[in-house]
Amino acid sequence: MASRKILITGGAGFIGSHVVRLMVNRYPDYHIYNLDKLTYAGNLENLRDVESKPNYTFIKADIVDGEKMQSLFQEHNFDGVIHLAAESHVDRSISNPMEFIMTNIVGTVSLLNAAKASWKNFEGKLFYHVSTDEVYGSLGEEGFFTEETKYDPHSPYSASKASSDHLVRAYHDTFGLPIKISNCSNNYGANHFPEKLIPLAIHNIKNSKPIPVYGKGENVRDWLYVEDHASAIDLIFHKGKVGDTYNIGGFNEWKNIDLIQLLCKIMDQKLGREEGTSAKLITYVKDRAGHDLRYAIDAAKLNRELGWKPSLQFEEGLEKTVDWYLSNEEWLQHVTSGDYQKYYEGQYIKR
Ligand code: NAD
Ligand code: DAU
Repeated sequence: MASRKILITGGAGFIGSHVVRLMVNRYPDYHIYNLDKLTYAGNLENLRDVESKPNYTFIKADIVDGEKMQSLFQEHNFDGVIHLAAESHVDRSISNPMEFIMTNIVGTVSLLNAAKASWKNFEGKLFYHVSTDEVYGSLGEEGFFTEETKYDPHSPYSASKASSDHLVRAYHDTFGLPIKISNCSNNYGANHFPEKLIPLAIHNIKNSKPIPVYGKGENVRDWLYVEDHASAIDLIFHKGKVGDTYNIGGFNEWKNIDLIQLLCKIMDQKLGREEGTSAKLITYVKDRAGHDLRYAIDAAKLNRELGWKPSLQFEEGLEKTVDWYLSNEEWLQHVTSGDYQKYYEGQYIKR
């Protein structure tokens, strides 16, 4: 692809920062624009190592601001968009759905409108929308989500992502906008905000605080190392078929309680604690409302058509993740001060 000016939205977030880093380093002839509102989840500390690169520019903006998006597209004439900006945490979508409707749905449409208006000729242009497997709903004990699985979202978060997926496809079908979509399973790795299960558990174990496990801990998630997600996004952006959807997954299903037990074992080793110490912190708490039982992705299409597969075994990835958190004390301190305390209290202390 001859694209040179690539707009990445949400590039200061967890997955976005890994995608920005990969694109800036791997494609020195591209100019990467990272557009981010810097919500509680956006953190420029995630990008210290790339911010002075000549092919990187940060733009602080809100994707919901349609006029701003129009003027940025006019000014920079982006060749491609990788759209990751979103409100991403299911529990927050239960307590405050409107934020999710605004950013995930209205924000996506304002970007689509800006692309459609500024791209007079769609030749060589691409709008790549990054989405989630949660749009497919919940599985029972058996089966996998494929690209043909019917949408059946349950949480305000997944319903907002499902809407945005439909709208991206609608702009392709109605206006001919060149689009691609990927739906990925649960990511883990460095820079993950400690509201999500793995980094929250690492943070609490480190501080000998209870590890909150929702319900009976029997829900199943399919975990993928974040850098493997970033490499899949790169591949789909460059080699995927315009108009197509690709599922991305880790072939790596874990019951929450088994994952937490493994994490406790790794943390005991890393912290020099006696085996079994961290597991004593496991605390079963009130379940998440509408909690989806099981997600499992069939990523066969991506493997068959583009040759992608995950590079890391889960145990290895989890150990690398723990190492990152233990050696990035300052990062963790910054993101868990201030508003995080209020969030944590509302979500867990009063649960
Ligand atoms: P995140 O919450 O860590 O980061 C989101 C980023 O978007 C932040 O930098 C935030 O500041 C920015 N943002 C939020 N609202 C914005 C707005 N209105 N305008 C501009 N920027 C805004 O999220 P994440 O986990 O990195 O997820 C990134 C994308 O990947 C999301 O679209 C999410 O739905 C999708 N996804 C996430 C996972 C996962 O496991 N985390 C899995 C599959 C798909
Ligand atoms: O599947 C992809 C999705 O994965 C992404 O689209 C979302 O953006 C991302 O947040 C993630 O959603 P989940 O809800 O699966 O992730 P979370 O880390 O919040 O929860 C993982 C599982 O752990 C889930 O079954 C709920 C449970 N859980 C979570 C938290 C925060 C707990 O038991 N205790 C907790 O404290």
